[in-house]
Amino acid sequence: MRKWIGLGFAFVAAVGLAGTVKAQSTAESAAGLTGETKPQDMLDARRILMDTIGRNNDFLHDSVDGHFEFDPVEVRARLDAISSMLLAFPHLYHPNTNIWSEEAEAADASSVSLSLPTVWERWVDFYLMAQQASETALQASIATEDARTIELINELEMQCEACHDTFRQHRVSGREEFQTPE
Ligand code: HEC
Repeated sequence: MRKWIGLGFAFVAAVGLAGTVKAQSTAESAAGLTGETKPQDMLDARRILMDTIGRNNDFLHDSVDGHFEFDPVEVRARLDAISSMLLAFPHLYHPNTNIWSEEAEAADASSVSLSLPTVWERWVDFYLMAQQASETALQASIATEDARTIELINELEMQCEACHDTFRQHRVSGREEFQTPE
């Protein structure tokens, strides 16, 4: 008798498991659900996007400060790219991507989110700041006078910092080229 109960349990468990696996693979193959099924991927995409915005922005300031020759076409192309990336950035904020733990950060600081929970609490403000910064970058990219482009590059820098002050944690990023102050 005991043997039969044991086998019955094993059968139910096997069917249950197969059902779970099937449901999961269906969800994972559904387009548009990456925030639900692969939050770590969405977080990685968000951080890589911001990292790229940062590197393009460094190029702009190095050009303005005379470390590189100021190439008006290259500068405008980078601003155009920053504008598009800033527009896309807030769309990578599924609530599941608020990923952080002390252990995960100690193991790999580049795998956890640097965003503050304020992002989700003050979503409209956050979204608006991203759009405004995107618009500044766009205007800078289409300005005909270099002086106006440079003025807007400086304005954009203030918008980067204002958003970071409110919505980003002041911790190390885990990326060599960018270390936020403690
Ligand atoms: C609307 C708010 C907002 C704006 C505007 C913004 N950022 Fe960010 N930035 C963030 C947040 C939030 C993070 C943390 C993202 C995360 O880890 O989840 C971040 C992260 C970063 C990082 C670290 C990337 C990494 O993970 O290694 C860099 C570099 C950066 N931003 C540069 C910039 C620059 C340069 C600008 C302006 C051209 C800018 N940001 C504009 C909110 C913003």
